[in-house]
Amino acid sequence: MEHDTITPYKTSEEKKEQVAQMFDNIAGRYDFLNSLLSLGIHKGWRKNCVKLIADKNPQVILDVATGTADFAIECAKLNPQKIIGVDISEGMMNSGRVKLKNLKLDALITLETGNAETLIYSDNTFDAIVVGFGVRNFQNLEKGLSNLYRILKPGGQLVILEFAYPTNWLVKTIYTFYFSYITPFIGKLFSKDNRAYSYLTESVKAFPNNQNFIAILNKISYKNTSFKSLSFGVAAIYKAEK
Ligand SMILES: C[S@@+](CC[C@H](N)C(=O)[O-])C[C@H]1O[C@@H](n2cnc3c(N)ncnc32)[C@H](O)[C@@H]1O
Repeated sequence: MEHDTITPYKTSEEKKEQVAQMFDNIAGRYDFLNSLLSLGIHKGWRKNCVKLIADKNPQVILDVATGTADFAIECAKLNPQKIIGVDISEGMMNSGRVKLKNLKLDALITLETGNAETLIYSDNTFDAIVVGFGVRNFQNLEKGLSNLYRILKPGGQLVILEFAYPTNWLVKTIYTFYFSYITPFIGKLFSKDNRAYSYLTESVKAFPNNQNFIAILNKISYKNTSFKSLSFGVAAIYKAEK
């Protein structure tokens, strides 16, 4: 798919290698920039996602593309037995591990190296899987989503949080300006990675959102799929079941 070909550095390395390198580069500044660029709104978005899986009281939860573990930490509020976070960037997870230790959540939440597309957990392992701002970075979106389907228990829930493109012309104009000029400028200034925040803009523009993303989930056999736009359509939550 076209969006799978959007890469951070446009070198000959595979997208997965480039994405891992990019997140290793920005790991130390990721949380700070997330809060600065979204004006703290991203925290509320993850809270909304976790509320959506609370009703089924999931006991074993997987946070895919966990990064610095913010989504896994939010899931801890559900009092599950176990949370596993997986990511391809050791740098991001090392920042996450420090937070888990400080929050005394390191016994509940473990972070493991793993690529969403090739995770080796057994079929039907997880009650719930969450992915925050991760699917856009997969090398092969459908392969990743299919693998998550395989390891989700029947009746288990998948919740995906991802940036989207607003449809209202005024919001779209402001968002396009902000994402095209302000985000790459601030990102470059603070992260010292020239490409990371331009890649963010390019990958969000190319990514299928709203109904188009639901169509992909349906094609993979997910059931009861739905989405909810957040903050005037700049992000969306996708919910699905196996
Ligand atoms: C924008 S960060 C999101 C981190 C966190 N989920 C959050 O909500 O802030 C995206 C993360 O996805 C990871 N990632 C990208 N492709 C991945 C893949 N195929 N499998 C696992 N993790 C991946 C990156 O290394 C990075 O840490």
